[in-house]
Amino acid sequence: MRRPLVAGNWKMNGSKESIKALLDGIKAGMGDVKEAEVAVCVPAIYIAEVESQLTGSPIMWGAQNLSNEASGAFTGEISAAMINDFNCAYVAVGHSERRTLFGEDDAMVAKKFAAARASGLKPIFCIGETLEEREQGITNDVVARQIDAVVELEGIEALADSVVAYEPVWAIGTGKTASPEQAQEVHAFIRQRIAEKSADVAEKVQILYGGSMNAGNAAELLSMADIDGGLIGGASLKAEDFLTICRAAG
Ligand code: 13P
Repeated sequence: MRRPLVAGNWKMNGSKESIKALLDGIKAGMGDVKEAEVAVCVPAIYIAEVESQLTGSPIMWGAQNLSNEASGAFTGEISAAMINDFNCAYVAVGHSERRTLFGEDDAMVAKKFAAARASGLKPIFCIGETLEEREQGITNDVVARQIDAVVELEGIEALADSVVAYEPVWAIGTGKTASPEQAQEVHAFIRQRIAEKSADVAEKVQILYGGSMNAGNAAELLSMADIDGGLIGGASLKAEDFLTICRAAG
């Protein structure tokens, strides 16, 4: 059985003060979260602070991006080993904002995925189609291409110790959620695509949904057979909303 995972992606939000209040709120409500694994992916500059606040709690933490390079003259970049140094469990790779705003293509995403794994971090590997691609009817082709880029570099077994996040770009930060049926259809396709190479990996891999998941719509999305949790943006910035989603994943 796959355990549900609910991961917050804070994106470029927060301050020392607001982060402390948010984590205090989440920690206080974790007693009611029975089933789900819970994690927060935080701005890199706050990782040390988050580590000190979450060590000893059931909540895991992670980064939102990493360099594909291991070390050296790459001003401003952060390596997988550095992220690992702060006991991060996860790092998001290939988020659509990285792909569209920072020009990360499939090949770069695959390299980052490899760098994360080489350091023992679990990638949260983000895929998803734009509105234009959905309207053209090529959603499955797009997610297949994104998955294949990683599988070609790292092999299918690599997905066994990573997490896939299906995030339709048109649903991110727009308040427009994929319907549970729409999301389930793509999740089933993703699992099928993986199963063509390894039924065992397909059965094990957690596939999260992301895109305007909130306290009101989470239960219905999370009840779908192939939706194993959520990657939560806006709603992860409010302790009560995030906890409601974590409880719904039970
Ligand atoms: P929202 O939940 O704000 O739509 O963001 C989703 C997302 O991009 C998570 O990575």
